[in-house]
Amino acid sequence: MEILNTKVAIIGAGPAGLLLGQLLYKAGIEHVIIEQRSAEYVASRIRAGILEQVSVDLLKQAGVDHNLRKKGLLHSGVEILIQGKKHRVNLSALTQGKHVTVYGQTEVTKDLMQAREQQQLLSFYEAEQVQIADFDSQPKVNFSYQGKAYQIECDFIAGCDGYHGICRDSIPQNRLKTFEKVYPFGWLGILADVPPVADELIYVQSERGFALCSMRSETRSRYYLQVPLTDHVEDWSDEQFWQELKLRLDPESREKLVTGPSIEKSIAPLRSFVTEPMRFGKLFLAGDAAHIVPPTGAKGLNLAASDIAYLSSALIEYYVQGSEQGIDEYSEKCLQRVWKAERFSWWMTHLLHRFESETEFEHKIKQAELDYMLGSQAAMMAMAENYVGLPYEITPLDIAGHTEH
Ligand code: APR
Ligand code: PHB
Repeated sequence: MEILNTKVAIIGAGPAGLLLGQLLYKAGIEHVIIEQRSAEYVASRIRAGILEQVSVDLLKQAGVDHNLRKKGLLHSGVEILIQGKKHRVNLSALTQGKHVTVYGQTEVTKDLMQAREQQQLLSFYEAEQVQIADFDSQPKVNFSYQGKAYQIECDFIAGCDGYHGICRDSIPQNRLKTFEKVYPFGWLGILADVPPVADELIYVQSERGFALCSMRSETRSRYYLQVPLTDHVEDWSDEQFWQELKLRLDPESREKLVTGPSIEKSIAPLRSFVTEPMRFGKLFLAGDAAHIVPPTGAKGLNLAASDIAYLSSALIEYYVQGSEQGIDEYSEKCLQRVWKAERFSWWMTHLLHRFESETEFEHKIKQAELDYMLGSQAAMMAMAENYVGLPYEITPLDIAGHTEH
């Protein structure tokens, strides 16, 4: 067995793990990434595509915003289509000039991977039998790579290995508490090289169920339909998808919709999930390993980014200033922001989707809530403030202050 030593072992090369690696590199902190999938697989996963301003700032801080600045689309509003009528949420006007950036998570991942390759940082892709041990004393990561056994001895382990990873499962049950809500439907998503139906995203509430018109660029669209969990992606032809989407849209959008062959089609279940705490001795959970949100509101990647802002800052504080304060506060700070994003994602999901179990009374109450929101400046401000992203307690500048050691 080959034994390696490093300061931080990062499990998982999704956006959370890669961004942490990049920020640690910038601060001169030695680390290694261990990922079970191939680099090609990681770089081709299709996920959501809306970045909060704070996430964009962090990517800039990490020095990986070159393509983002060139290709990201700034959106200052979103449309909500309720029972056939469109309403614009003027995000910028409601949040004193803030906006969101449309840029695919796949692209964020590729940008981070490219930076990592250029910087020749150590990553083990296609690692097998990844296991973590002794995270209360002298942490270790064991795995095999190209048929050879490895052990990494480190100061800290960052569990960035997603919802199905091994880090959370390695924690004794009596040391954590999990909170979960599973929704009784999924999102059928399609990616197509057709121009988007509108300049801004359209969130659709209709009698036939929720739909979302999103985009990746001016020539690539991403659309979603709420579907029963019993549906299989093979049962949905492209033709059927476009037909159903048209039925959920307003006449103007229906008319404008450009259809075409799908380049990706999949069904994703919707779930809210939180693990408490997010730190166990020298093991930190971050991103999807610690929490999941339903995609309504696109908070998943943004929450992973805010975890990493706190974690990188805490580790830099530890190595540069010898202070454990950031490490001690990591879990609490993350969870404060996590629960607010959980609430917002749950609320948007609840309000815009059709639930089979909903009584007529509940349906009426929902419509009244939407009606109230659209007519109230205060309620619209609350929606916009959450959509563009709640501010961090630490600013990316805190990280900037410690870079390049
Ligand atoms: N060993 C090593 N790597 C693992 C293991 C394991 N045992 N288990 C999982 N992984 C890897 C996965 O292959 C994946 O590449 O961990 C990575 C986790 O990445 P993500 O699932 O993308 O999670 P995260 O980086 O936290 O990103 C959060 O992704 O799912 C979306 O909505 C979510 O946008 C959010 C973002
Ligand atoms: C997407 O573009 O994939 C997307 C956008 C907004 C969401 C969810 C997904 O709320």
